[in-house]
Amino acid sequence: MSISFIRKAVILSASSGLLAGCSEAVDEPTLGSAQAEITLGSHVGGITDADFAEARDNFLLGENIDDGVGPVFNETACGACHTLGAVGGSGEQIERRFGRVSNGVFVSLAGEGGSLRQLKTLGSFNNGTRTCTVALEREPADATVHNVGRLTTPLFGLGLVDAMPDSFFTQLANAEPAEVRGIVKTAAVLLPNPRDASQGIGTVRVARFGWKDDISNLATFAADAYKNEMGITTQHCFRGQSITAFATESAPNGIAQPAGCDDLAPPAPAGVPAGTDDAVGPCASGQTEIQEDIQNFINFMTFLAPTERDLSDAAAVNAGAPVFNRVGCNGCHVTTTFRTPNPAPNGVPGNFAFNPFSDFLVHDMGALGDQIGNDGDSVAVTRRMRTAPLWGIRFRNHLLHDGRTGDVTTAILAHDGQALTSRNAFNQLNATDKHNLVQFVRSL
Ligand code: HEC
Ligand code: HEC
Repeated sequence: MSISFIRKAVILSASSGLLAGCSEAVDEPTLGSAQAEITLGSHVGGITDADFAEARDNFLLGENIDDGVGPVFNETACGACHTLGAVGGSGEQIERRFGRVSNGVFVSLAGEGGSLRQLKTLGSFNNGTRTCTVALEREPADATVHNVGRLTTPLFGLGLVDAMPDSFFTQLANAEPAEVRGIVKTAAVLLPNPRDASQGIGTVRVARFGWKDDISNLATFAADAYKNEMGITTQHCFRGQSITAFATESAPNGIAQPAGCDDLAPPAPAGVPAGTDDAVGPCASGQTEIQEDIQNFINFMTFLAPTERDLSDAAAVNAGAPVFNRVGCNGCHVTTTFRTPNPAPNGVPGNFAFNPFSDFLVHDMGALGDQIGNDGDSVAVTRRMRTAPLWGIRFRNHLLHDGRTGDVTTAILAHDGQALTSRNAFNQLNATDKHNLVQFVRSL
């Protein structure tokens, strides 16, 4: 999509700016971040205000069937879901997944549209030659894992996480107590970030994004979300190679739509898979070109600033910090200060200190595990979840992967598996310690 269209198009409104409750730097808390004050929803260094504003507008842009939305989708703008606190925040949308466990092994039922069940369809429309009808996705009869919720996660500060080297996460895992130690999950980069010279097509990297750490860089997440959340397929060039991993339209419940019935985007140029909604075209030797919307999403997420601490309830926050450690929350929600490499490979500031309160590793969460996996995963593997980063949690109104609660205490009490000991220790705290611990969590 061209920039001129973006200017004309409707920009969804979303709240931005500082929220009430963000205090000026009070006393540095026991576990404070070293950075100067940053406005929520603004950007860190490495991008101009104008480029960030353009990227953010693209993230907010509502698209439609003529742009390639469909055949099935969840929403029509990234910014329609990532809304809370500021553009790029968490959201209220809870997506749905299904699957099947067969002989003790997870099957995604990809041939029947799994594991993601998109919640919207283009329905019936005329493409100029015929009437097309796209049925709404349903759970197929052979699914045994049903209607699993996946809450929209916040994107603040994730460019800093993207900048961290694999070795950092491995070291975090090695330093964790054996009973709670997380597992380093890896995934191949399907769309490299051209800014980061260490990334190529297929580079295996520590997976750090999504509730289950399925994706290893923000660029791949952007193209994946454009396709799976909005139904917009893209093709890119990287060092002369055409990337078509996101070029094929979803087949609702496994049913490929007849030609011309996936949406009303103009046909893809020659040399590009049919059905690609936004293509850069055949790749000349050595050419690197990321499709423009995706490049904007990458720019927006890479430079989106992290949240700040809220120290307004300083007494409770300071009293709660040691309790957090004493009951073992820090075994997974590590209090380690992260620091970006200098220079950072993706262009964010080097030596930038931040505290996401997550190891970005997956842990066996027992009954809290969502039982969704990749094809071939054992049931035990499907119980693994990424330690949810706790920074900015006060801007959220739903918690846990399925958004089942908005209450921090309830979220803690749902912890199981490797977190059971910690949950039990929390349960045995007196009311004051519990209160202070929750206030500490809400200050992060
Ligand atoms: C329908 C709502 C919806 C839309 C639209 C949407 N997202 Fe998301 N987003 C989610 C949900 C739900 C998750 C959690 C997915 C998971 O892990 O299973 C998520 C997670 C992410 C993450 C991972 C963050 C983390 O915590 O690691 C990134 C990155 C992301 N989205 C980017 C985008 C981009 C870019 C777009 C637009 C192309 C987009 N999203 C559109 C709902 C949405
Ligand atoms: C063994 C690792 C582990 C320990 C120990 C642990 N957590 Fe968690 N925590 C997780 C994981 C994994 C999730 C994500 C759960 C999910 O997918 O629903 C999570 C989620 C959360 C959430 C919800 C965040 C969100 O984004 O929805 C809160 C709040 C939380 N933990 C607080 C705590 C507190 C407080 C303690 C100590 C009492 C604690 N956790 C101990 C691993 C752990």
